[in-house]
Amino acid sequence: MPLPTIDKNHLPRHIAIIMDGNGRWAKQHGTTRAEGHEAGAKSVRAVVEACRELQNIEALTLYAFSTENWRRSQGEVETLFRLLSKYIHLELDEIHQENIRVTLMGRKEGLSEQALADVERCESLTANNTAMTLNLAINYGGRGEIVDTARALCREVEAGRLKAEEVTEEMFASRLYIPQLPELDLLIRTSGEMRLSNFMLWQASYAEFVSMQTYWPDFRKPHLYEAIAAYQARSRRFGGR
Ligand code: FPP
Repeated sequence: MPLPTIDKNHLPRHIAIIMDGNGRWAKQHGTTRAEGHEAGAKSVRAVVEACRELQNIEALTLYAFSTENWRRSQGEVETLFRLLSKYIHLELDEIHQENIRVTLMGRKEGLSEQALADVERCESLTANNTAMTLNLAINYGGRGEIVDTARALCREVEAGRLKAEEVTEEMFASRLYIPQLPELDLLIRTSGEMRLSNFMLWQASYAEFVSMQTYWPDFRKPHLYEAIAAYQARSRRFGGR
């Protein structure tokens, strides 16, 4: 597949991806779902590399494990966390060398000690990196994030530091899990689905949504460029004219 042409001076500052279709890819290839997720981890590497190479993408958020994913079989949940550990083990040094900061977006409660140790190692090692943020959504749910943010504000009101009437959208945004992320510009979902599936409900308000037929394990740099080209072809009005 040739590389679609994109304008490197008008890149989205923040791209998020709902990585979908690992299971269907596995079925198509007559293999196990675990193999599908394993192949999906290779796409993660390719996309992180492609974004970093573009230089002006400030943040890449990947939906790696939702709060709803706990409903999958215990074996599949274990496979996903094992893969995450493996990815971190294999890639962290290079990620750090590339000056990429890793953040975890999600509830830390509920993660195993191993998973917690893995993500905390990423966060602490890369905390001062500045070239790009790789934001991993793990044990993440958009409604849960909104509820947790509302709770944080309620606690401030209870403590007398804030009045309910003083709460603004900016204040709310500044108390989300990872408030330092730039506005979400482009939200990609692979495998042809058109749902948000409880992903970044607050942040997606003005994001351009691009749904692609490709299954996640087949997603590579040309697909990323295709999504960026689609984003650049849209005219963004933010509710204005
Ligand atoms: C969706 O495919 C994918 C996931 C639930 C998990 C995404 C995880 C990875 C790509 C692996 C490792 C992640 C990192 C960050 C290294 P699906 O199983 O819902 O596919 P289906 O809808 O076709 O069954």
